[in-house]
Amino acid sequence: MDSFLLRNGVLFAEEVSLEEIALRYGTPCYVYSRATLEQHFRAFDEALRGQKHLVCYAMKANSNLGVLDVLCRMGAGFDVVSLGELERVLQVGAKADKIIFTGVGKREDEMRRALEVGIRCFNIESESELHKLNAIAQGMGKKAPVALRVNPDVNPQTHPYIATGLKDSKFGIPIARAMEVYRLAQKMDALEVVGIDCHIGSQLTELDAYREAAVHLKHMLQALAAEGIHLHMVNIGGGLGIRYKDEKPPSPCAHADMLHSVFGPQNDYEMIVEPGRAIVGNAGILLMRVECLKQADTLHFAVVDAGMNDLIRPALYEAWMDIVPVRKREDVAAKPWEVVGPICESTDFLGKERRLALKEGDLLAVRSAGAYAFSMSSNYNTRPRAAEIMVDKGCHFLVRERETLPQLWAGEHKLP
Ligand code: LLP
Repeated sequence: MDSFLLRNGVLFAEEVSLEEIALRYGTPCYVYSRATLEQHFRAFDEALRGQKHLVCYAMKANSNLGVLDVLCRMGAGFDVVSLGELERVLQVGAKADKIIFTGVGKREDEMRRALEVGIRCFNIESESELHKLNAIAQGMGKKAPVALRVNPDVNPQTHPYIATGLKDSKFGIPIARAMEVYRLAQKMDALEVVGIDCHIGSQLTELDAYREAAVHLKHMLQALAAEGIHLHMVNIGGGLGIRYKDEKPPSPCAHADMLHSVFGPQNDYEMIVEPGRAIVGNAGILLMRVECLKQADTLHFAVVDAGMNDLIRPALYEAWMDIVPVRKREDVAAKPWEVVGPICESTDFLGKERRLALKEGDLLAVRSAGAYAFSMSSNYNTRPRAAEIMVDKGCHFLVRERETLPQLWAGEHKLP
């Protein structure tokens, strides 16, 4: 679904012109569409209708309270990876029993707090973590629900920086060792072993690797059952890709069909999915203004007011993200531009060789910037982080104020 469409030559977010947003809130800013968020969440939820399931939004993709609130109201669960994410999602009233906690390095205070509020499940990534959680839960007189995150060693065919299910990745428990670790977990008094989990990578555009991983999980469930260890929760992780350019990722429905073909239609497991990007990625754009046009030896540069501190994906993964004008111009010829930010780094680019008709002062939008965009932004070059705006039909709401300069050094001190 696309809620960012042209109307009379001007780009809109739902029913609000992006020119109006820029005027009102300034640039750079992130603009989200509530309708898109809702539609994408619903697609996952409905794909698993009739099956016991929970869609746990991976909030690392975008953890703005406005975004979390919209999803929480729709009944979403949440996948958190830090105490910060846990406390953040509790702020919007998320129910603890819909929260699962993943991550390779959970600290003691994080485990303690998660046990205190009573989360649904810990996804455990190592034996060491198992011992630690058992001891903490024991001390608190609680039983910790756990799933083991197994590493199935499958190749998800994605950028190496976002592949997580290969055997030399730091994530999960190698599948060959998992039986043994399950037996160990089963013997621990303060743990309740409820499920199995994996997450093989992000921006996956084929189902093959998912199917391969799911088959591994199924065999494991059967082997465990044969030993009297019966699990009821199956978590296949997140990772379903989106279209940035011309990718054709599988739909949530096709993904659910794949799960049913492996685990059986309407099976008795509780199926958990952890989509992040597929829910929020195409629900957001980064709105920015051209500050200056300049010419190098052979290249034309369009310097915009958003930089790699606002959006690091192109610099970090050489990710291609579409850049479009907010208002189409006919008065200058289109030519290839290097769209770069103001930061003192040569990796500070948002797009290379983009054919655009541009003048200084024009507004541009980076599309598909709802996921891993603001949430990965920083204050590099002492730049305040951008404002975030949520559009809901004809209304717009400031869901995060632009940072002010004094906020950037609040908490820092000169020497006495
Ligand atoms: N579950 C786990 C355990 C994860 O580690 C992740 C993402 C997800 C779910 C959600 O994956 P998604 O559905 O969003 O693909 N910064 C990178 C992506 C990093 C993904 C990290 N883990 C990027 O900008 O492409």
